[in-house]
Amino acid sequence: MGPWLSNLLILAACCYECRGEDSVIQPPGDVITTEGEQITLDCQFDADDTRNLYLFWYKHEVNGFPKFMLGRFSFGSKNATEFKDRFHAHLDADSKSVPLMIQRLQLSDSAWYYCALRPTVTTGYTASLQKLFVCVI
Ligand SMILES: *[C@@H]1O[C@H](CO)[C@@H](O)[C@H](O)[C@H]1NC(C)=O
Repeated sequence: MGPWLSNLLILAACCYECRGEDSVIQPPGDVITTEGEQITLDCQFDADDTRNLYLFWYKHEVNGFPKFMLGRFSFGSKNATEFKDRFHAHLDADSKSVPLMIQRLQLSDSAWYYCALRPTVTTGYTASLQKLFVCVI
């Protein structure tokens, strides 16, 4: 394991946090996987009102900006063009989860992934975020 990778893993371990009343909970730690595999990243959230949910998945590449991937809402959805084919997210209001599945992993999928919840009860954008690092080797 190269020093840059261990640094990333240490960074990933430190990024696990959870704040706020409506919040998202992703399991801590990192995912190390190989090309061609399929993974599912879990995202549990907590929200008082499960009738008006807005869940978003983002990809944040090392040295890049966070990119919107998929949005799953109580009513409707949104998909960024780049993430239409191999990426799937399903919002389950009963189990309060919105897992993200990535199929046929490519090296370029190595990145931080995080889900965010936008509560509708408050004004503005008050999502809590956690990141999960996926390393495709
Ligand atoms: C986004 O993708 C999902 C799954 O492929 C599809 O069911 C949904 O209709 C798409 N949403 C939009 C707005 O195109």
